[in-house]
Amino acid sequence: MSKQFDVIVIGGGPGGYIAAIRAAQLGFNVACIDEWKNARGGPALGGTCTNVGCIPSKALLQSSENYDQAGHHFADHGIDIKGLAMDVAKMLGRKDAVVKQNNDGILYLFKKNKVTFFHGRGTFAKASDAGYEISVAGSTPDTLVGKHVIVATGSNARALPGAPFDEEMILSNDGALRVGAVPQKLGLIGSGVIGLEMGSVWRRLGSQVTVLEALPTFLGAVDEQIAREAKKAFDKQGLKIELGVKVGEVKTGKKGVSVAWTNARGEAQTLEVNKLIVSIGRVPNTIGLGAEAVGLKLDERGAIVVDGDCKTSLPNVWAVGDVVRGPMLAHKAEEEGVAVAERIAGQHGHVNFNTVPWVIYTSPEIAWVGQTEQQLKSAGRAYKAGTFPFLANGRARALGDTTGMVKFLADAATDEILGVHIVGPQASELISEAVVAMEFRASSEDIARICHAHPSLSEATKEAALAVDKRTLNF
Ligand code: FAD
Ligand code: NAI
Repeated sequence: MSKQFDVIVIGGGPGGYIAAIRAAQLGFNVACIDEWKNARGGPALGGTCTNVGCIPSKALLQSSENYDQAGHHFADHGIDIKGLAMDVAKMLGRKDAVVKQNNDGILYLFKKNKVTFFHGRGTFAKASDAGYEISVAGSTPDTLVGKHVIVATGSNARALPGAPFDEEMILSNDGALRVGAVPQKLGLIGSGVIGLEMGSVWRRLGSQVTVLEALPTFLGAVDEQIAREAKKAFDKQGLKIELGVKVGEVKTGKKGVSVAWTNARGEAQTLEVNKLIVSIGRVPNTIGLGAEAVGLKLDERGAIVVDGDCKTSLPNVWAVGDVVRGPMLAHKAEEEGVAVAERIAGQHGHVNFNTVPWVIYTSPEIAWVGQTEQQLKSAGRAYKAGTFPFLANGRARALGDTTGMVKFLADAATDEILGVHIVGPQASELISEAVVAMEFRASSEDIARICHAHPSLSEATKEAALAVDKRTLNF
């Protein structure tokens, strides 16, 4: 027997589960279907982000950072540690426990908000007068009918042509988060967000890490000055990043992986490593969705075609998150999920793509919102820039972490903040102030006039805003 719902959400990642909760809050009868399985075959809500993305990577980044601090920085504080050792199995166990807390938390939130959860794959079967028929293939085979459907099926890691993921030697983000012992030599293809975060984890634990990047510029989407500063820090840490390379044949053997590559000068090279992580971007996932059964339009990349409001080519079918255009970020997926639920309710859901922050959780952290200096230059926009180094911030000195800076970019005439870029300690947290300021269309003068706690890293943000008008107080 089929079950009728006002809203059916396919996918229980950040886009889907948040959309389901918001729709239920708005009074709809909501079902969410998700197929992810934990190690015991049970449900594991939260999608890529919770299971093999944001959460486990940050757990490992924290463990490895603690180890790095204990090994290299505690002595500066007079803390003498003997016999420091890393128990990788324990670190992975902790990471798995953190993931499980998040999985269970979402199940609890579904119960609290009366979202009906179905564990299995959701597939469009047909459209009828009652709505869309979705079959659920899983532990509880079923057919559901939804007046509205929100597709939030996420993305999958892109493999190198001719080198499929085996998750033993050639690893996607999934295998990269399950490596059972510190590889002596680790290779990464792609110095994007995953490459830098996962490279940092294993470098801190003792791997010799080489990253091969196709583009000639490091972190091309990041403000050039900030990217330069970050590169300097990574070089100092011993993260070997080769830019402008061409990756050739990848071969696996008993001992590891061999990668043929050509460097920026056109010289043929070979990289021999124990494990290879391939992090060259992600592809939208519509596998098994049955898009063709109902005529749901996909673009040439396989992403579901949507307009600015996340409406698809079909009436009452919406799509959010990694499976549609735009940045592949959990918080972007969540904002779209909320906005769609509100639009279904006749409200004016809204996502401001200009103020979606980015964070790379390396050490130093890199965070930004809005436009980069190179973007402003190429758009011919007149701007003023102000920077403030953490070296001149008292809290950063007390923390023992003075790498990096805060950079403000503001309109030359109106002083409206156009972009804020941070490389340094706690950049992930500091960026929120800039996001709020830009959402309210604040000027750099507004931030400069706000009282910031002393001593705090946020004073560097205030000082960078003061620097726009060349009136820093502490530098
Ligand atoms: P997903 O999280 O991919 O969820 C989709 C869900 O749908 C999955 O559970 C999948 O099993 C399910 N599904 C798919 N098809 C079906 C179907 N037919 N039926 C039923 N279920 C289906 N972003 C950040 O903002 N911050 C970070 O720090 C961050 N770190 C990351 C680290 C890594 C290693 C990776 C890989 C990604 C990271 N991301 C991060 C990106 C983030 O994970 C994604 O942007 C986010 O998960 C997208 O959410 P989503 O809901 O669109 O899709
Ligand atoms: P990415 O798009 O960030 O980086 C991919 C890199 O690989 C690019 O620099 C690209 O030039 C390079 N590349 C592509 N093909 C190549 C090839 N053949 N040889 C060598 N280099 C090649 O993708 P990544 O790191 O896989 O991450 C996917 C997405 O996941 C990110 O874009 C981001 O949206 C999300 N993510 C977000 C995180 C965060 O918010 N902190 C953390 C991790 C992932």
